[in-house]
Amino acid sequence: MAQDAFTGKVAVVTGAASGIGQALARDFARRGAKLAISDVNLDRLNALAAELRQAGATVMADRLDVADRDALFAYADKVAAEWGGADIVINNAGVALVGSIASLPVEQIEWLMGINFWGVVHGTKAFLPQLAAKRAGSIVNVSSVFGLIGVPGQGAYCAAKFAVRGFTETLRQEMHGTGVHIACVHPGGIKTNIANAARVIELPAGADSAEAVARRFEEVVRTTPEQAAATIIRGIEKRAPRILIGADAHVISGLARLLPVAYATLVRKAFGGLARGAKNKNNANTAAARS
Ligand SMILES: NC(=O)c1ccc[n+]([C@@H]2O[C@H](COP(=O)([O-])OP(=O)(O)OC[C@H]3O[C@@H](n4cnc5c(N)ncnc54)[C@H](O)[C@@H]3O)[C@@H](O)[C@H]2O)c1
Repeated sequence: MAQDAFTGKVAVVTGAASGIGQALARDFARRGAKLAISDVNLDRLNALAAELRQAGATVMADRLDVADRDALFAYADKVAAEWGGADIVINNAGVALVGSIASLPVEQIEWLMGINFWGVVHGTKAFLPQLAAKRAGSIVNVSSVFGLIGVPGQGAYCAAKFAVRGFTETLRQEMHGTGVHIACVHPGGIKTNIANAARVIELPAGADSAEAVARRFEEVVRTTPEQAAATIIRGIEKRAPRILIGADAHVISGLARLLPVAYATLVRKAFGGLARGAKNKNNANTAAARS
C-alpha cells in the first residue's frame, strides 16, 4: 500500500454502503487510510468492509442512521476511543424525495431533512471537536448542484442541500486559521442508486412510474461514483473550499452566478412541470399532502 498523505489517517464516511460513499471508502482504503464506515444498510456495508479488509485495509463498520443525533454522538465517541478521533469526516449519507411542494406531506419533508440536513449537522457537531483539538483534518459536507439552484419537484431536497451549503460555508469562515479544512461538495448527476431508492410522491411530467424516473436519471447522468470520489479526494488534498463534480455541476454553478433569477426559466424548461395524482412508489400516503 502506497505511503501518502492519507496513510494511517482516520477517514469517517457516512452512507458508505453505496454510490459515492462506497467509492470514497475504496479510494481511502487504497491510499492507506483507516476506515470508519457506516450506513443504515448493514448487509451492503459488511460486504464492503469484507472487501476492504481482504485488500489489507483497517476497517470499522457500523450501522448508523445519521438522522439519529444520539447515535451519531455515541459513534464519534467510539471513533475517538478506538482510534484517537477522526482526521477526515465525509458527511455523505443522503436520500431523494420527488414531488412538488404542494404534494409533499410535511412528514416526508421532515424525513428528508432529518437525513440530508440534520445528518450533516449531527456529523459535523459530533466530530468537529476531535478535528479542532488536532488543529488539522477535513470536514467535507455533501450538498448538490440542487444546493445551487431550485428545481421543480425537488423542493425538499433543494431545501436540505441549500441548508447544507449555508451551514458549511459559515463553518468554513468560523474555522479559518484553525487548521481544520471545511469543504462543501456539489455533485452534478452521478450514476448511483439514489434515484432508484428515491421516494416518489409525485411523478415528473413525462414519467409514468417511479421506475421510469430512475431510468431517465440513469440515461441522463454521466459521472461515475469513482470519478466523484477521485474529485472529492483531490479537493481534500488541495484543501478546496468548494468541490464541484462533473461538467454539469460547472455549468449549473455558472448559471446560478450569471443568471441568479433568470436561471429558473431554463430549469423549468429542462425539468418540466409535475403531473398531478401520480403514484407513490415507497409510501401510500400521497393523499396526506396537507399533513
Ligand atoms: N447521485 C447523484 O446524482 C447526487 C448528486 C448530488 C448529490 N448527491 C449526494 O451524494 C450523497 C451520496 O449519494 P449517492 O448518490 O451515493 O446515493 P446512494 O443511494 O448510492 O448512497 C447513499 C447511501 O446513504 C445511505 N443512507 C440512506 N439513509 C441513511 C441514513 N439515514 N443514515 C445513514 N445512511 C443512510 C444509503 O443506504 C446508501 O448506502 C448524498 O448526500 C446525495 O444527496 C448525489
